[in-house]
Amino acid sequence: MPVVEKKSMISSNRWIFSYLLTENKIFIPSLIALFLTAGLSLAFPYFLKELIGNPVDAARDAVPANEILASINEIILKLIAVLFLQATIGYFRVQGFIRSGESALNRLRKDLFKHLLHLPVPYFQDQRAGSLSNRVSADLAIVRETLLTTVPQAVRQTVILIGGLVFIFVNSWKLSLIMLGCIPVVVLLIAIFGRKVRNHSKAAQQSLADASTVIEESVQNIADVKAFTNEPFEQDRYQTALQAFLNVTLRGAKARGAFLSFVIFVLFGTIAFVVWCGAHMYASGDILWKPFFAFIIFSIFVGASLGSFPEIISQFQQTAGATERLREILDMQGERKTGESNITLKGQISLENVSFSYASRPEVTTLSEISIQIPSGQRTAIVGPSGAGKSTLFSLILGFNDPTSGNIRFDETDAQDISLDCLRSQIAIVPQEVMLFGGTISENIAYGKPGASKDEVENAAKLANAHDFIAELPSGYETLVGPRGTKLSGGQRQRIAIARAILADPKILLLDEATSALDSESERLVNEALERLMKNRTSLVIAHRLSTVRHADQILVISKGKLVEQGTHDALNAANGTYRFLVETQLS
Ligand SMILES: Nc1ncnc2c1ncn2[C@@H]1O[C@H](COP(=O)(O)OP(=O)(O)OP(=O)(O)O)[C@@H](O)[C@H]1O
Ligand SMILES: [Mg+2]
Repeated sequence: MPVVEKKSMISSNRWIFSYLLTENKIFIPSLIALFLTAGLSLAFPYFLKELIGNPVDAARDAVPANEILASINEIILKLIAVLFLQATIGYFRVQGFIRSGESALNRLRKDLFKHLLHLPVPYFQDQRAGSLSNRVSADLAIVRETLLTTVPQAVRQTVILIGGLVFIFVNSWKLSLIMLGCIPVVVLLIAIFGRKVRNHSKAAQQSLADASTVIEESVQNIADVKAFTNEPFEQDRYQTALQAFLNVTLRGAKARGAFLSFVIFVLFGTIAFVVWCGAHMYASGDILWKPFFAFIIFSIFVGASLGSFPEIISQFQQTAGATERLREILDMQGERKTGESNITLKGQISLENVSFSYASRPEVTTLSEISIQIPSGQRTAIVGPSGAGKSTLFSLILGFNDPTSGNIRFDETDAQDISLDCLRSQIAIVPQEVMLFGGTISENIAYGKPGASKDEVENAAKLANAHDFIAELPSGYETLVGPRGTKLSGGQRQRIAIARAILADPKILLLDEATSALDSESERLVNEALERLMKNRTSLVIAHRLSTVRHADQILVISKGKLVEQGTHDALNAANGTYRFLVETQLS
């Protein structure tokens, strides 16, 4: 975790509180209630001192017993009344804090997700799988802990600290000064030691997280682990990581042990010293019994609240780190919002000298000087070896990435002059690997057109040759699929994706044909569905099957990021070039 500067710690925490303040109708009354309950908690030592110090030994015989009883009964009644008041206010303030805190957090969560959804695609590609969402939830958990627990604690302890100090000064300024003289020394020593211990525990946390990563990866890739009989290898990896964790922890254990003994010694030593000074003053008549006793009780309260501050400060530091990272996401530039938003595409696409390099690998030219015309309503097939840049071309057309140089035009309009929403709403993609969302089949198909009616969904499924297999499932269209649902086969998932695209009814269709082979019956069903889908649209197909390429109006052959051949199947097949080679070796 990066060390957070003091200044940024304040500004980061201030930013988070600005979220709380949007809930000010609940937050501010809760805050006032918190001040009240914290203040009232000082009533406890106050009445305690009245009870115990009443009367002092010396005066015991001078005061009649019934007077003593009457006075202590009155005190206990007052104390109970105050406790009741405190409890009642506390009940509302806890609810108020949770309500305003969680509402503020929900607002932050909503803002974050909205912003994440609008970040450019490359940002997500550069992240390690899972790490982004894990990090965001871990950071949000820290912020939540702070808003709901640390803030109330900080307020309460501050009130008790200040109030307690006032009381001890009132009772004996001399003793207070002696105690205050000791505090800075003790606090400084504890802070220095405490920081060391905290650093150790941070390192331990990190190395435990590293160990967990091993489990996470093994579970995620369990099929590979088993297929390669690599269980012992993974166990070893985990064992090594655990050993590293243990080493760090043991190093920390020394510091922790030293810290604890030190705190106990110094803290109680100081208390003993101050009480000793007080006893001296009492003996020489410098202080009376009741104020002396009050001083001790309040000192215990002050000491306890002082002791909680290192924890509170460290929590605020952590929050500063977490909010910094969240703010980094919120400050990141989203996708462009420019461009005309009501252009109806005819379906023609032209690329003019388009070159492209991924930002993460600027030295590699993934696409170089590509110029192509994709006529409206026709079928264009793209073929080429793996890694040639075919999928990359799709990502440029969808505006996920912008060309490094050159232009893409839709009809006669430059892609940059059309808003991304407008563009994408008229393009549909059937991807290479179809991922389904957790939900019903019906919902998954309707993803192509949110709000589609039941009939529309079924119609689309019929056209996609998906209806029959869906109808055979026990729950039909209501069957749950996705990560936790029924597993569908590759060909079935593809037909769901086709149904989705049919429902979307796009002007332009991008189809990234699956590389995995389907059995001939599935292939026939998928092909039939695709034929229906491609009819009367501009379709651009990354093809791995000869049957798809054969009927294309034009074929583009891409190799190593360059357009190397272009023409119909017959023409290209006749020429003895890359296409012919691909037909013979790769297209099936
Ligand atoms: N997000 C990315 N960041 C950096 N490089 C990438 C990224 N995606 C792809 N590449 C690289 O760009 C090149 C082209 O990849 P692309 O996915 O376009 O190939 P493809 O022609 O679709 O291959 P396949 O037929 O195997 O799907 C490859 O060398 C690949 O490693
Ligand atoms: Mg690809």
